[in-house]
Amino acid sequence: MCGIIGFTGSHHVQDILLNGLQRLEYRGYDSAGIAYFRDDSNHISIRKTAGKVSDLRAVCDDDNESHCGIGHTRWATHGGVSTTNAHPHRVGRVALIHNGIIENYKELIAKYNLAPQLKSQTDTEVAAALINKKYDEFNDPKKALKAAVNEMEGAFAFCILFREDPGKIYAIRNVSPMVATFAENAGSFIASDLTAFLDFTKNYFVVPEYHLLTLSNDGIEMEDLEGNTVEPEYLTVDWDVDAAEKEGYAHYMLKEIHEQPSAIEKTIAPRIKDSLPDFSVDGIDDSLFENVSDITVIACGTALYAGMVGAQMIKNRFGIPVTCAVASEFRYERPVLNENSLVIVCSQSGETIDTLAALRLASEYTKKTLSIVNVKGSSIARESNYVLYTHAGPEIAVASTKAYTSQVAAFYLIAIKLGLVSGKASEPRAKEFIETLKTVPNMIKTMLGYEDRVAGLTKRMVNATDAFFIGRGLDYQIAMEGSLKLKEISYIHAEAYAAGELKHGTISLVEEGVPVIAIASQSNVYSKVISNIRETEARGAYVILISKDPEVTDPSICDVHFHIPDVPDEFTVFEVIVICQMLAYYTSTGKGIDPDKPRNLAKSVTVE
Ligand code: AGP
Repeated sequence: MCGIIGFTGSHHVQDILLNGLQRLEYRGYDSAGIAYFRDDSNHISIRKTAGKVSDLRAVCDDDNESHCGIGHTRWATHGGVSTTNAHPHRVGRVALIHNGIIENYKELIAKYNLAPQLKSQTDTEVAAALINKKYDEFNDPKKALKAAVNEMEGAFAFCILFREDPGKIYAIRNVSPMVATFAENAGSFIASDLTAFLDFTKNYFVVPEYHLLTLSNDGIEMEDLEGNTVEPEYLTVDWDVDAAEKEGYAHYMLKEIHEQPSAIEKTIAPRIKDSLPDFSVDGIDDSLFENVSDITVIACGTALYAGMVGAQMIKNRFGIPVTCAVASEFRYERPVLNENSLVIVCSQSGETIDTLAALRLASEYTKKTLSIVNVKGSSIARESNYVLYTHAGPEIAVASTKAYTSQVAAFYLIAIKLGLVSGKASEPRAKEFIETLKTVPNMIKTMLGYEDRVAGLTKRMVNATDAFFIGRGLDYQIAMEGSLKLKEISYIHAEAYAAGELKHGTISLVEEGVPVIAIASQSNVYSKVISNIRETEARGAYVILISKDPEVTDPSICDVHFHIPDVPDEFTVFEVIVICQMLAYYTSTGKGIDPDKPRNLAKSVTVE
């Protein structure tokens, strides 16, 4: 929910912090700030402001030779958007940035009478005050930090400067993500994710929970809470800086829409051998898919909608019982799982706290936990017993696109493997399906050719206050993702509806000019959906039809028609969703909105 970065080394710290925050801004952009040891003295300077990193740059002076500091870009949780509530927060001899939520901050204020020291409405400042209080007590940064976090409840990733310790950054996390690295001839870095320091190195390690880091110009010391030294486990990222840049596209979202063919290619190619799914590269053997009594797919948002498409395939094609669960609901319900339950957890970031909590709960019942994750070494990846990485590369835009289609492709590989292992799929049929899956990148490339036509709908969309995405069967699952895309970046109230359900009430909202995106790609219910479309057309809807029809001869059915090439019904998702993604993108930009940073949202929801 927030972006944090720290650096100490041989480079001018202000540039590193500001550039790093620019990379992390997709995580939150309500306010931003930096703190650094001015000219390497023990004076800590702080510059912060409401607004974006570009606004922070404007308030930073560059007449300092400082080499150690921390930076933060905020997604407001406790306390509104203001300069006072912006991080870093300084209390006494401590300056601190934080990503997470301290659940018991009010109790801590009361217990230690911290209120007189507080200027903001944030839980973060309470954390700074508590650490400072412990620092006054122990006069030792590590002891102070251990004592303070021992009293905190909730998710946190802290980077802290202690005034008497110039050149050093202390850090510790619980749940909220943090990675770190030491780069020769640069120094020590720590951040919410590695895009912040990718210019300097591709090597990084995930900071384990409740391990205390001391970063200095010479390297990074890590110890557990008992004081035992722990060696970092370094990983190497398999994409480079360009992948994290816009490469000439107007926005990350448009770039990532166009990256989908390669994202899917990279995700499926390593898992296909002799036209059959093979997960040996992931260390997953067939035993995971044997004796499966039931399947539960757990995720949030777009990842859940990808899971729903996967579940539809597993259920309809192989008759295997599958349920899909909203992670934030699942984690508070009584799980109906047993040791033979297969739980598939899906998450682009691998850090969504609700999904992580749901995985932890499911893990109490079954060892068959498989995660589909895009970020290597993320919490969900590390805590599931099996992980299937999508190789979509960094997805920076808040609105997920290439991760969604890569997740669906991963689910399709799993579905075919389940079919084969359960004996419900013949090898020839499985090979036929996989051969079709290999053509998906080309299907998407064909759909990208519609970009100008979709952009031409902008003027019809920008003034809409409501929009409906309707479909039946798999098209209804696709409609859910299409609807989320539009509403989250254009602020138009969009709903996905089972086409046959519309007449049971909601059609009362359909009036002159209301856009209805009608998806009619499933052969077995095509004529039914056309009837439903006519019902909306009769009430003045502006119908955008997406179907396999070569052309629509009856103009009364729709206002605009997008023909999609005739592929097997299970594969239309890859065609239809590209049109929905582009419709959302152009509607957003048509309204003057930055689709990469929609209001109120952040890329990874690491707080409840
Ligand atoms: C999708 O466009 C949204 N940004 C959001 O729904 C997202 O899919 C959801 O928060 C889940 O994120 P995750 O895949 O990183 O777990």
